[in-house]
Amino acid sequence: MVARNWIAVARIAADRPGYAAKSLYRKLVSKPFVAVEGKPFITERVEALRAAFAHVSGKTRGQTFKPGAVSEPQAELLWRLVRDRRPGKVVETGVCNGLSSAVILAAMDLNGTGELISVDLPEFSDPALNTVSYWDGKGGAVIPAGCEVGWLAPKQYRHRWRLLLGRADELLPEALSGGCDIFIHDSEHSYENQLFEFRAGWKALRSGGVLVATDINWSDAFDEFCREARPKKQFVDHSCCLVFKP
Ligand SMILES: C[S@@+](CC[C@H](N)C(=O)[O-])C[C@H]1O[C@@H](n2cnc3c(N)ncnc32)[C@H](O)[C@@H]1O
Repeated sequence: MVARNWIAVARIAADRPGYAAKSLYRKLVSKPFVAVEGKPFITERVEALRAAFAHVSGKTRGQTFKPGAVSEPQAELLWRLVRDRRPGKVVETGVCNGLSSAVILAAMDLNGTGELISVDLPEFSDPALNTVSYWDGKGGAVIPAGCEVGWLAPKQYRHRWRLLLGRADELLPEALSGGCDIFIHDSEHSYENQLFEFRAGWKALRSGGVLVATDINWSDAFDEFCREARPKKQFVDHSCCLVFKP
C-alpha cells in the first residue's frame, strides 16, 4: 500500500514537477490541528459514513461513487476553529453527506452559540434524483440511496443550521449577507468557482475572521486570490489553507 502511494507520488512528480514542488512545499510548512475533545464525535460520524458506503458501488458521469467528505484531520481543524473562536456565524459551501456540517454544529452546540449556513448542489447515487448539471471536473461524491443531504448532522443540532440547496455562485451572496466569522469553501473546485468563492468569502469575513480554503491544489484560483489579497495564511496540509482577515 505504502509502496503504491510512493509510486503514485513519483508519477505526479515526473508528470507535473511544478505542481509536485508546490504541494511538497505546502506540506512541509503546514501545521495540522488536533482536536482531542472532538475526536470521538468525528470518529463515530466517519464510521457511520463508512457503514453507509459499505455496500454502495457504481458510477456517475463515469466517476466512481465516493463519500467526498473532508479528511479526518480537516474535520479536527473545523472542530478546533469553532471551539477556539466561538464564531457567531459560519458559512460553508459543499455539504454532500454532511461530515463538515455535523462537526461544526456539534462544536457550536458545546459553545452554546453560533449559526451555520451551508450551500450545496447535491448529487445522489440514484440518477433519478439528479435533475441539474454539474461542472465537468466533478468527482463521484454522492449521497447514497435513502439518505438526505447532510444526513450526518444529528437532528438535535440542526436548529442552528440553514441549508440552501443550489449553485454556490447563485446562493453564496445570500448566505454571506451580513458578514460571517468563518467561511469554508468545499464545493465546486473549478478555477472560476474557487476564485469567486475566495473573493466573496474574503469580502464578507468580519475583522479577525478566517477563511478555510480546501482543495486548493485543484486549480490556480488560490494563488490568484493570494496575489490579490496578500493575506496572512497558514497551510494545514498540502491542499488546505487558513487565511486570516486582519
Ligand atoms: C467535497 S463535497 C463536500 C463535502 C463536505 N464538506 C463534507 O465534509 O462532507 C462537495 C459538494 O459540493 C457540491 N457541489 C458541486 N458543485 C457545486 C456548486 N456549483 N455549488 C454548490 N455545491 C456544489 C457537490 O455536489 C458535493 O455535494
